[in-house]
Amino acid sequence: MSLNIVILAAGKGTRMKSDLPKVLQPLAGQPLLHHVVMLAKTLNPTRILVVYGHGGDQVQRAMANEKLEWVEQARQQGTGQAVQCALPQLPAQGKTLILYGDVPLTQSNSLEALVNAAQETGFALMTVTLDQPAGYGRIVREQGKVVRIVEHKDASAEERALHEVNTGILCVDNALLHKYLPHLTNHNVQGEYYLTDLVAMAYADGIAIATRQPAAVWEVEGVNDKLQLATLERVWQMEQARRLMLGGLTLSDPARFDLRGSLQHGVDCSIDVNVVMEGEVVLGKGVRIGAGCHLRDVRIGDHSEIRPLSMLESAQVAENCVVGPYARLRPGAELDDHVHVGNFVEIKNTRLGQGSKANHLSYIGDATVGTGVNLGAGTITCNYDGINKFQTLIGDGAFIGSNNSLVAPVSIGKAATTGAGSVITKDVPDDQLAIARARQQTVPGWKRPKRQD
Ligand code: UD1
Ligand code: CA
Repeated sequence: MSLNIVILAAGKGTRMKSDLPKVLQPLAGQPLLHHVVMLAKTLNPTRILVVYGHGGDQVQRAMANEKLEWVEQARQQGTGQAVQCALPQLPAQGKTLILYGDVPLTQSNSLEALVNAAQETGFALMTVTLDQPAGYGRIVREQGKVVRIVEHKDASAEERALHEVNTGILCVDNALLHKYLPHLTNHNVQGEYYLTDLVAMAYADGIAIATRQPAAVWEVEGVNDKLQLATLERVWQMEQARRLMLGGLTLSDPARFDLRGSLQHGVDCSIDVNVVMEGEVVLGKGVRIGAGCHLRDVRIGDHSEIRPLSMLESAQVAENCVVGPYARLRPGAELDDHVHVGNFVEIKNTRLGQGSKANHLSYIGDATVGTGVNLGAGTITCNYDGINKFQTLIGDGAFIGSNNSLVAPVSIGKAATTGAGSVITKDVPDDQLAIARARQQTVPGWKRPKRQD
C-alpha cells in the first residue's frame, strides 16, 4: 500500500520574531523542516508533499537537494484547508501521513506504529496524555472509542478537563481524505477549517479510530518561539549524548556536548567539556578530544589526541597524532601517523608526512611536507602573491629553522636544513644548509641617538 506524506509548513511563525521562516530555524545545525523530511524518508513514502505559505522561495531553496513536491496554501485558513490544498496530488488509493514542519523530533518507530495502526482501521491518530493539556485539541472518547476531537477554544469545561490530546499527527486512508475534506466547514470559534473534524466524520461512518502514543512527549512537541527552540535543542542534544554514551563513548559532561551532524567512534574515545561537532565526524579507537574543541567534517585516527581549544575543519588526522592546544586545521589539512601540530599553528591544504612536527606559531598552506620533518617555531609558507597561490615542497627529514619564510613556489630538499630567520626564495638541495639572512655585524662607532632639545 503506497504511503504519501504531507508536511504542513504554511504557518508564519510570527513568534520567532525572525526574518528566517520558522521551518528554516536550525535545530542541531539543520533546519526544522530538514529534520521532518529526514524522518519522512525513513518511512519510504512514494511522495513527500510540503504545504508552504510564507517564505516559500526561501524554504524551497533551502530544501533544493531533497526530492519534494511543493503545494502552496496562499491564505492559512486552518489545518484542514492546508491538507485540502494537497488533495489533488493525493492518489485515490493508499494512505497519507500528516506531519508538521515545526515538529522536528518525532522518531521513526513511533510513526511506523501509527502507520501500521492505520493499515488496520484506515484512520489512526497520534495522541499524548499531558498534565497540562491547555491549548491542545482534546480527544473525546465514548466507551473508550474516539468519537471526535474538540479544539481547546471550542471545548466545554468538561472537555477541557480531558488530558489526552491531539498531537496533530495522523495517518488516514486517501479514500477518506477525498471523501471528507471537501465537506469541512469553518463553523467554529476560530473560523478555521479544522483537520481534526475528520475524526467525527469517520466515526459517524462507523470507522474505528486507532490511537498510538509516542515513546516520549518531546517527540511531538512543536516549536513556536526561540524558547521552545532552545528547549527542544537541549532535549535532542541530551538524547544524542545518551545514545552515544550507551554506545560506549565517554563524555565528561553530556550537558556540555553539542553534536550538529553525525558522529561515529571506535572504542575508548573520550570527549571533554564544551566540544562542538558539526557535519560528519569520524573517530577511530582511543581518540581523545580536549575541552572546547570545534570539529567539522573531520576524521581522526586511532589513539590521536586533539588538545583543548583546537578547531578542525574538513581535515584528516591519522593515528597517534597530537594536535593542539590552540591548533587550527583548515580544509585539506592531512596529517599522517605520529604528526604533532602544536599551539597557534594553522595548516591549510597541506599534507604532513609521518612523524613530522610543527609545534609552535606557524602557517603552513599549500604545502607537501615529507616524513620526519621539523618545522621550527614561526615557520611561514608565503603561498600567496595577492593573486595566485603557490606550492611549497619540503623533503623527508628536512629541518626548517625558527622564524623562516618559505616563499613559494619553492622546494626544500631531503634532509636539508635552513638557518633560523631565513627568507628562502630559492630551492634548497638535498642534505645542504641554506641560510638566507643578513650576516650579523657589529657597527663600529655607532652611538644611540640623543634627545634633541
Ligand atoms: C492543531 C490541532 C490541535 C492539536 C495541535 C497540536 C487542528 C485544528 N488543531 O492546533 O488539535 O492539539 O495542533 O499542536 O488541527 N498550518 C498550516 N496551514 C494552516 C494552519 C496551520 O500549514 O492553515 C500548520 C502550521 O504551520 C503548524 C500546524 O499546521 O505547523 C498546526 O497549526 P496550528 O495553527 O498551530 O494548530 P493548533 O491550533 O496548534
Ligand atoms: Ca500549534
